[in-house]
Amino acid sequence: MTDHSEVDTVTGKSTTGHEWDGIKELNTPLPRWWVISFYLTIIWSIGYWIVYPAWPLISSHTTGLLGYSTRASLAVELANLETLRGEKMAALAAAPLADIEKDPALLALARAKGRTVFGDNCAPCHGSGGAGAKGYPNLNDDDWLWGGTLDQIMQTIQFGARSGHAKTHEGQMLAFGKDGVLKADEIVTVANYVRSLSGLPTRKGFDAAKGEKIFTENCVACHGEGGKGNQELGAPDLTDKIWLYGSDEAALIETISQGRAGVMPAWEGRLDPATIKAMAVYVHSLGGGK
Ligand code: HEC
Ligand code: HEC
Repeated sequence: MTDHSEVDTVTGKSTTGHEWDGIKELNTPLPRWWVISFYLTIIWSIGYWIVYPAWPLISSHTTGLLGYSTRASLAVELANLETLRGEKMAALAAAPLADIEKDPALLALARAKGRTVFGDNCAPCHGSGGAGAKGYPNLNDDDWLWGGTLDQIMQTIQFGARSGHAKTHEGQMLAFGKDGVLKADEIVTVANYVRSLSGLPTRKGFDAAKGEKIFTENCVACHGEGGKGNQELGAPDLTDKIWLYGSDEAALIETISQGRAGVMPAWEGRLDPATIKAMAVYVHSLGGGK
């Protein structure tokens, strides 16, 4: 093979001898530092293959001399985090319920914990922000079926309402129609009386005196004088314009004739005691706590 390389007259550099249509390729080798770095990276990669997991095999992979694995180090980090959280949660479990809101660190922990646990466990019924839905009470407002103090909220969360737990809140809205206690026209009358308690318009020809009589005889025992409610029995205040099951005549007739028995599950045993405390503080801090 003859050497066609020559010196280019314009640049003074030698050419490689390659030529296309009269254009000649200058011989400009890669800088020495670049070539050395390139070979170093290759040597480095061989070292890397030896000490770290690198090559896939048929059913596994080369593990490397160091035995390093991201999975194992993740497990260690998670375990560390659990211990750290465990310590904090233990502090929460040990603190008296009433003191948690006074300690900024515990309060922050309870709120953060509460928010995540709420999203996973409570939001399906109470809505993501605790705003509630028909039959599921709003936890942001100042209206409580079973009481809005920290202790009362915790008790409701722990044991539930009509949950079947031995310590659950009981108290039933009776089925006055289904059980034949009141006749259909009496139910319409008392439904309108209930509407009048919160200033809602009533049906034409509604007999207020008759409504009041039916209410006094059948409803006051649970809903209290004037329908102001009774938290011992979970009987809602009927005067406050906040409705669990609706305030139109049809909804009221349904409530009064069929009864209602919303079930709030008991969380004791399903959530650990520290988490239940955190939930009570979280719900209390939603805005309507007393
Ligand atoms: C299966 C649906 C359901 C789930 C899940 C649920 N709740 Fe409830 N909750 C209810 C119902 C229904 C009521 C109302 C019970 C009644 O009518 O007396 C209620 C009532 C409450 C009350 C009392 C409200 C008041 O006005 O007194 C609190 C507090 C509460 N829930 C908190 C929670 C928390 C915290 C969680 C999650 C750990 C949760 N709930 C999960 C259905 C649910
Ligand atoms: C034995 C106790 C008891 C008696 C008697 C009773 N209630 Fe109730 N009532 C309740 C309870 C408890 C609830 C809540 C049910 C629930 O949370 O699921 C309720 C709920 C209601 C509601 C639903 C309120 C809302 O916010 O949607 C209405 C309306 C109502 N009662 C009207 C009456 C009327 C009218 C009478 C009389 C004819 C009556 N109740 C008698 C216990 C009672």
